[in-house]
Amino acid sequence: MKENQPSRARFGSKFGVVMAAVGSAVGLGNIWRFPYELGMNGGFAFLLVYLLCVLALGIPVMLAELVIGRRSRSNVFGSFKVLSPNGKWHYLGVVYVVAAFIISSFYFVVAGWSLEYVYQAVTDQFSNRSPLELSQAFTDFSTDALRPIFWTIVFVFLAAGVILAGVRKGIENISKVLMPMLFVIIVVLCVRSVTLPNATEGLKFLFYPDFSKINSSVVLSALGQAFFSLSIGMGCLITYGSYIDKENNLLGTSVEVSVLDTLVSVLASVAIFPAVFSLGINPAKGPELVFITLPNVFMQIPGGYVWSVLFFLLLALAALTSIISLLEVITAYVSEEFKIKRRTAVFMASALLMFSATLCSLSLGEGSVLQLFGMPIFTLFDYVSAKIFMPLGGLFIAVFLGWFCSRKMVFDELTNGGSLKTKAYDLFYFLLRYFVPIAILMVFINELS
Ligand code: TRP
Repeated sequence: MKENQPSRARFGSKFGVVMAAVGSAVGLGNIWRFPYELGMNGGFAFLLVYLLCVLALGIPVMLAELVIGRRSRSNVFGSFKVLSPNGKWHYLGVVYVVAAFIISSFYFVVAGWSLEYVYQAVTDQFSNRSPLELSQAFTDFSTDALRPIFWTIVFVFLAAGVILAGVRKGIENISKVLMPMLFVIIVVLCVRSVTLPNATEGLKFLFYPDFSKINSSVVLSALGQAFFSLSIGMGCLITYGSYIDKENNLLGTSVEVSVLDTLVSVLASVAIFPAVFSLGINPAKGPELVFITLPNVFMQIPGGYVWSVLFFLLLALAALTSIISLLEVITAYVSEEFKIKRRTAVFMASALLMFSATLCSLSLGEGSVLQLFGMPIFTLFDYVSAKIFMPLGGLFIAVFLGWFCSRKMVFDELTNGGSLKTKAYDLFYFLLRYFVPIAILMVFINELS
């Protein structure tokens, strides 16, 4: 194997590996998607189903990606070439790069919105607006032709700066600082939220165990959420895996990352819903919850200025570390496969992304012609990546490692050449070959129908 490529970047420490992967996993999915699903789908009962999905599906696919990455020491395209030199699997690698590009395009736009809201929070622009005005302000802003693009471009520069600084000095270092910071912010917001009057109403909404709500579609939506939240199914963690040194216990890393990601999702729920309920506001979903409902909430609680700044900062930081993982997938592919300097690859990828993110942003404008299949390309990109690329991507990763790579290689990688031993490896292999492909196929078919 290409174990001795002196020039290839490596993460510097175990803590750095976990923080970088948590940085990728913790993002908009945790902060605006999970809380709502938890509350609407049976509270504690949903949480149990979700945990099961993370355990039985999320951890195996994450581990599979890390194994593929570390074994091949290559980008998503190269990794399939190294592990299956005569197969056609590397074409799948190109699909992953395209998927990373598509996700980044709309994710950059929302990330840009979060910067605008950091700016608005810092300049205290929420306080003198009525709920209706806040709602109108968001619509005006997100459909504006220039302002969101400005912030999106700022975000591209930020992400490109981190990637240019390199795997260790950029991605790893920034994750080591930002992730603990994000954790502190979210805990502080939780404490604020649960100490508001009537906060128990929100906690009841979130955690009341309503097992009668659990049906097959709820199970499948928990699966989908786990998938998106853990950043799996797209080769993101193949790329990060390729920077992990060979002493790392990959199973341990996958478990830690999954636990932390889930913890952040639950904490985000606790930070948001008790506050929303305390004011008797109806919980909304998606952009509306984060960009309209929450500013409303902040303005009505004591110290709202500080909380709003903290919250939007949290959102922007979470988005930044997620997006750099997507940009790294593209950068590693372009620079390694086309043998060009990393710096040039970052410039090329960023320029292209600025262009496609701009199109995504403009597509939300009223009467925009940037529509395909009857929806704005922003919505189309979101739909295609969440419902088609990611489930199929995860399925192929499981099938590739479970059925097309040798069992000996997989176990060699899991046990670090025989030095680690646990029965969990047999369970993992079983899940990878049978349970994961079948479960994902079920999600896929359900989501399309
Ligand atoms: N996990 C991130 C979130 O929860 C989103 C994300 C970042 C992602 N990188 C990814 C999703 C790669 C799928 C694949 O917001």
